[in-house]
Amino acid sequence: MDKGLGSAEDKGIGSAYHYTPADGWSLGNLDFFTVPQKVFTPEEHDIWRVLYKRQLDILPKRAISLFMDSLSTLGISQDKIPDFADVNEILMKRSGWQVVPVPGLIPDEPFFELLANRRFPAGNFMRTREQMDYIQEPDVFHDLFGHVPILADPVFGDYMEAYGKGGLKAAKLGTIDNLARLYWYTVEFGLIQEPQGLRIYGAGILSSPVESVFSVESPSPHRIKFNLKRMLQTHYRIDDFQDNYFVIDSFKQLFDDTLVDFDPLYAEIKGKPPYEPGHLIDGDVVLHKGTGTYAVEAARRREERKNKK
Ligand code: PHE
Ligand code: FE
Repeated sequence: MDKGLGSAEDKGIGSAYHYTPADGWSLGNLDFFTVPQKVFTPEEHDIWRVLYKRQLDILPKRAISLFMDSLSTLGISQDKIPDFADVNEILMKRSGWQVVPVPGLIPDEPFFELLANRRFPAGNFMRTREQMDYIQEPDVFHDLFGHVPILADPVFGDYMEAYGKGGLKAAKLGTIDNLARLYWYTVEFGLIQEPQGLRIYGAGILSSPVESVFSVESPSPHRIKFNLKRMLQTHYRIDDFQDNYFVIDSFKQLFDDTLVDFDPLYAEIKGKPPYEPGHLIDGDVVLHKGTGTYAVEAARRREERKNKK
């Protein structure tokens, strides 16, 4: 689900099956990781249908309104795993973005460079039936269903391009870990306040049935207003629901608020210990103060698992 998020080692995916190392890649080599789209099997198309149907039952009134519209505009339908070429024809006209198939996770810098050029790399594989509820690596369902619809929005598209450029800079400065948190709390797990209510725009949530409900309805997690510096300093969970979500007002706000030069921010927070998930800090604008009940349970389960080992 996460790409461009710290080293593969940090993510526990050092041994990930679908990971391509950077050997032989250099800046400017935009096609290096691109592969022809897989010819998916009937079984894989069927898994797509099951996942798609399940999300469609849940997402109306929970996902950002443009999400549903965009699925149909882009021709991302329940019938089958879409042909990337068909999606690209429409996506290009809408926002100048393209989706390109890659074997799976790719290293940070090539990932950033693709984004900086309005290309979104999508996992060229489908999860198995055993992985229906959870898969750590981004597959074609997560990427095509979760990420691509929102890329049809030109403002969000501009944000993603800017993020890619910011990523290339962060790679030079050694601040990818900070920047990756912004990606996590926006692109993957972001919530947005729409006039009709709180809605999901993060792809990590949109492609997960349980978190789609949890993120907007559970009393457990904190829901805090977007705060750039705070987010750059906040650890996230890769193996469970988030203990805090950050809420934006609009994609325009997201774009405008990240336009500033991050260098002084990086310098200011350098060496400071990050905030742990679930902790509120001075200056947080709290929209919903979480009860933390789920987080307590989850911590107990983690402890149990550790003791078993
Ligand atoms: N403005 C940021 C910088 O100077 C770049 C960026 C834009 C990063 C948007 C993330 C998102 O580093
Ligand atoms: Fe993702």
